[in-house]
Amino acid sequence: MSATGPNRRITVPEIAGRKGGERIVCLTAYNAATAKLLDPFVDLLLVGDSLGMVLYGFETTLPVTLDMMILHGAAVVRGSERACVVVDLPFGSYQHSPADAFRAAARVMSETGCAAVKLEGGVEMADTVAFLTGRGIPVLAHIGLQPQSVMKTGGYRARGKDEADAARLMADAKAVAGAGAFAIVLEGMVEPVARRITTEIPIPTIGIGASPACDGQVLVTEDMVGLTQNVTPRFVRRYADFGRDLAAAAKAFAREVRTGEFPRAEHCYGAGSNARPLAPRGPGKRAGEQ
Ligand code: KIV
Repeated sequence: MSATGPNRRITVPEIAGRKGGERIVCLTAYNAATAKLLDPFVDLLLVGDSLGMVLYGFETTLPVTLDMMILHGAAVVRGSERACVVVDLPFGSYQHSPADAFRAAARVMSETGCAAVKLEGGVEMADTVAFLTGRGIPVLAHIGLQPQSVMKTGGYRARGKDEADAARLMADAKAVAGAGAFAIVLEGMVEPVARRITTEIPIPTIGIGASPACDGQVLVTEDMVGLTQNVTPRFVRRYADFGRDLAAAAKAFAREVRTGEFPRAEHCYGAGSNARPLAPRGPGKRAGEQ
């Protein structure tokens, strides 16, 4: 891929330069096929650790490992050519020390080819953000509702509802921006707080459940297209219902296999027009049964 040709990727400085300008469009992707479909339409592809819940059926994101993030991150980089790809650092890979965070982030960057990493945390992670950015690793920060801290906070509730919490969120935003993050995800917070943060910090904010005041928006793709079966958060808009379409397709396939309508001649090698099942089979009968 050329560094200057028409297909070159959107860079981290270009995303950072969108502050107060053209809105940033971000969706999650966990595999090459989805990345390829989304790539022409988004600025950022986020390989979120939400993949633990969406793809693997974990109850939280906590069991997600660095190896899982690297496999999925590399697939998304392979499947895309234009979007800036950011990969989440998973729980336990960066919180202990800046040096741990650097080792995890360096593996993610070198083994996936992504442009940046994302990590959760505000004031308490500022030293780590500075350590990484000072060593050439761009960081997308993530404050507000932090799914990796769900055991401490006790749930997925919106933040910033009282003045003390609003002040904490503002301090978090200023700390990670001051530490060198190139942009910041604001997850699950009340509109006035998201608006104030977006107005007061010099880097772009990317909201999820944080109102249109943000400089960009991100959604989990599977939520957006109706592929997640759990409770849909209020901030999700469903732009398609692939879950319903997938169930309808599976039902039609099952019926056609059972009645012998599938496969047809056009789906067979060398069958001419003679492609038909050996014998009609009723429900519950197996081959050779009378
Ligand atoms: O893991 C994820 O998908 C995320 C987004 C929801 C921002 O962090």
